[in-house]
Amino acid sequence: MSTNKTYSYGKQTIEEDDIQAVVNVLKGDWLTQGPYVKEFEESLGKKFNAKYVSAVANGTAGLHLIALALGWKQGDIVLTTPITFLASANCILYANATPDFVDINPQTYTIDIVRLEEKIKNYLSRGKNIKAVVAVDFAGLPCDWENLRRLADVYNFQLVNDNCHALGAEYNGDIGYATKYADIVNMSFHPVKHITTGEGGAILTNDALLDKKIKILRTHGITKDEELLTKNDGPWYYEMQHLGFNYRITDFQCALGTSQLKKLDGFVNKRNEIAKFYDESFKEDNRFIIPSVQGNIRHAYHLYPLQIKFENIDIAKKLLFQIMKNNGIGLQVHYIPVHLQPFYKENYGFKIGDYPISEKFYEREISIPIYPGLNQEDIIYIAKKVQEIVK
Ligand SMILES: Cc1ncc(COP(=O)(O)O)c(C=O)c1O
Repeated sequence: MSTNKTYSYGKQTIEEDDIQAVVNVLKGDWLTQGPYVKEFEESLGKKFNAKYVSAVANGTAGLHLIALALGWKQGDIVLTTPITFLASANCILYANATPDFVDINPQTYTIDIVRLEEKIKNYLSRGKNIKAVVAVDFAGLPCDWENLRRLADVYNFQLVNDNCHALGAEYNGDIGYATKYADIVNMSFHPVKHITTGEGGAILTNDALLDKKIKILRTHGITKDEELLTKNDGPWYYEMQHLGFNYRITDFQCALGTSQLKKLDGFVNKRNEIAKFYDESFKEDNRFIIPSVQGNIRHAYHLYPLQIKFENIDIAKKLLFQIMKNNGIGLQVHYIPVHLQPFYKENYGFKIGDYPISEKFYEREISIPIYPGLNQEDIIYIAKKVQEIVK
């Protein structure tokens, strides 16, 4: 019986060949900045059809580098959605730019195109243009990228895809959609994501200049490129031309990443199978709202965001969490709307009621376990427990 097992909302899948790939690197000469970083970057570029890839220490570091490479600065307005991990918005603050939010679409839970255009027009009416949009493929569902690209071209803003949830998703049948529509793309390989390197991330772009900036900023702002040096004292010589960081990733992490990437399609298939079972379990029951997927999209299901109409039932979310935990099932909520975090409220004046769709979604959403290691018995148990407790 599944009852003596415990579940979390997400979990890595590490197999013997993944372990061997890491051990091989540990036995070699390089632990960091050897050939496996480059190999991982090339594999990611090939898989997602991106010309340039920079593997980095984690997804948050990646967003920080993107903000700097795009030249965000004080006075620039950058938009994202409240339903995302803090890092999607915090990167705006790292660059001293001004964060603002656009509510989510109630069907897709990603940035609402109509509200985005309204917001842009509102800024324009006050003589301001927005600098960039960080659009999040929340839960693994690609945003409306055709319309985002159209708006970016019409209103001349930079377009970032925070793609951390959506590795392996497809948009119009294209797994490489992210760099096709966005100027620059961010990924994370945290263990709950589709593939893992422990901590880790990557930045993908088709823009050579942006890539150059990212690679310099990733390693202290240092360059050894003879074409860029102001002078050259000898073979040891390097110059720091920008204020950068040590946001590098190690070789053994990248060996794990390359091994994991080979399994991505299988992992995403498994996530889709689990989601299909959950869809079938909850779709006819009006206590629940299941995630919807448009016809031109393959969802990557980093999360299975299930909405529960707590307003119509007798159990509170807190109690549901507790009872599920007592039954071995760890739930999570994605996300507490970013604009309601004390830091954002105190420093930027956001308040309850600013983004009602996100706030309603937060009230209703729970993320139930979804990861490749779950078997049929596990998901039957999880779905049954949710149905049983949500009375
Ligand atoms: C949407 C989103 N953006 C950025 C990040 C940051 O990635 P990391 O945890 O690798 O720093 C995450 C991680 O949870 C995320 O979910």
